[in-house]
Amino acid sequence: MKKQKIVILTGAGMSAESGIKTFRDAGGLWENYPVQQVASIEGYEENPRLVLDFYNARRKELLHTTPNHGHLMVAKLEEDFEVTVVTQNVDNLHERAGSSHVIHLHGELMKATSSRDPNDPACICELTPEHPDIHLGDKAADGSQLRPYIVWFGEAVPKFEDAVREAATADIFIIIGTSMQVYPAAGLISYIRPGTPVYVIDPKAVPVRSASPVHTISKGASEGMDELSKILLTR
Ligand code: OAD
Repeated sequence: MKKQKIVILTGAGMSAESGIKTFRDAGGLWENYPVQQVASIEGYEENPRLVLDFYNARRKELLHTTPNHGHLMVAKLEEDFEVTVVTQNVDNLHERAGSSHVIHLHGELMKATSSRDPNDPACICELTPEHPDIHLGDKAADGSQLRPYIVWFGEAVPKFEDAVREAATADIFIIIGTSMQVYPAAGLISYIRPGTPVYVIDPKAVPVRSASPVHTISKGASEGMDELSKILLTR
């Protein structure tokens, strides 16, 4: 029998139990680092060093981080379902937990690219744990300044179309750990087929607008995934 298809949209809350700060919670990253300075194309143009340092620090933090139980439970769903993870996270914890199909809407921390054309595949390269930093003066393949492969505010989200194709063919749609404040990611749910069941795991109430039935699990990612896995296997 063909496996049912699950599409999972994840945000910063997915990695919170791994020790990575979320953005908008109390004590979140955007409280200490003005988002316009470190995560917008204008901020990068104005002060590239500050932005490179910000992501160098995030990358070092990631190297000391491991997937949490929630990531592992998401990966385990592949035993019984066809699973696509659409993540807003730039960490690689889903992949390290064993998820085999991950779409990164907002880029990847362990990759670098060209400042001239960030989406030129010929310029996208891997950073290694041995050489994780990007410095001013480092060059991409096209000779421009190397920059983080991150989608900043003010930039296009080229992977969104792939995510839409996945959402439109999902049998079950799951949302984990996102405040649903940032578009287009938060709008992905509007592409699911009518009637597709939606499950939301988040300790806080998040705005999820859908004509489909929405089931809320008000727990953290690990506990929430334990509960949801049981529900999905007995449906
Ligand atoms: P937010 O910081 O906006 O939201 C984090 C969500 O995770 C909130 O709804 C929390 O309640 C929830 N949360 C906290 N702890 C959790 C836990 N243990 N388990 C499950 N959920 C938990 O982060 P995002 O929605 O991911 O973009 O933010 C979206 C985008 O905004 C990010 O990708 C980033 C940011 O600006 C860029 O930098 C381009």
